[in-house]
Amino acid sequence: MTTKVLLDCDTGCDDTLAILYAALHPNIELVGIGAVWGNVTADIAARNSAHTVAMLGKSHIPVAKGAEGPITGRPAEFAYHVHGDDGQGTVGDKKFVARLAAESAAAQIVRLTRADPGEIELIAVGPMTNIALALALEPELPRLVRGITIMGGAALAPGNVTPAAEANIWCDPEAAAAVFNAPWRLRMVGLDVTMRTLLTEADRQQLLNSDGSIARYVGRMLDFYFAFFTQNAFGERSSCMHDALAVAIGADILVPTLAPKVSVVVDTSDGPARGQTICDLRGQYRGYPEQDGAHCEVILESDPGFARHVVAAVCAAGNSALTDGVSAL
Ligand code: BDR
Ligand code: CA
Repeated sequence: MTTKVLLDCDTGCDDTLAILYAALHPNIELVGIGAVWGNVTADIAARNSAHTVAMLGKSHIPVAKGAEGPITGRPAEFAYHVHGDDGQGTVGDKKFVARLAAESAAAQIVRLTRADPGEIELIAVGPMTNIALALALEPELPRLVRGITIMGGAALAPGNVTPAAEANIWCDPEAAAAVFNAPWRLRMVGLDVTMRTLLTEADRQQLLNSDGSIARYVGRMLDFYFAFFTQNAFGERSSCMHDALAVAIGADILVPTLAPKVSVVVDTSDGPARGQTICDLRGQYRGYPEQDGAHCEVILESDPGFARHVVAAVCAAGNSALTDGVSAL
């Protein structure tokens, strides 16, 4: 079974892997990509997304640029220290020139879902600004999509920007609140599972030693990303695989082993819990009985070995279709 996926990302290192995984998987039809601010500017995110599909020879997948900052107009903060100045671990292809869609990412979401009602899984792996803008443009959006899956939030795990908040929610809590409150089936792939789905140095060496230039590019890109996680999280060379995990779960390729459907509230206060996803897990002692009106599936457990599938897919991707830059490396 093939799932149509519309991906919205702030394309840094792990988003790049998510795009590669989605574009390569035989059971996914990637119908479009939206670029949002977050790890990097929306301009850089759009360029990196376009570059990623161009390496695969799939530039027919439209990439639309979206929001440049939070929906409230508060200042944007970026994560260059995690993903590098270019969002590609500082090894990005400087020669690449991106050709982007003429519409905004929010307009693209509305157009594609109106044209194919009930068929497209929206998968958002950056701040949720573009999705909130699309909801404002088309209030029927929850009925037009198959469902939405987000990488973001944390139910029981600590945050990764503040003690309470995960980055994608922290960047734009008001947009995230609009997304969580909309009446659609929402899957939350948060830090509870993504902090346990790791790429190892052995994976990176496998990428670097691959016959294909795309895998070697990814192996080089991950060097910078690994340095961040070594110093700030794990104490050894490795990284999380946040965004690709959301793609696999959103497209029903990876079925989580524990995902209760519960109510979730996003903290939009200016207190210490700003950006927290407060998940009602009080039913855990009774096997999570149904909660009235709950529509969020909070992923609490999934296969921690999932990263091996992504590495295998990227290693099998072959050589870049670009005639200069990446393919020459
Ligand atoms: C999320 O924040 C970004 O840095 C990553 O790309 C991921 O989407 C993890 O908190
Ligand atoms: Ca991301």
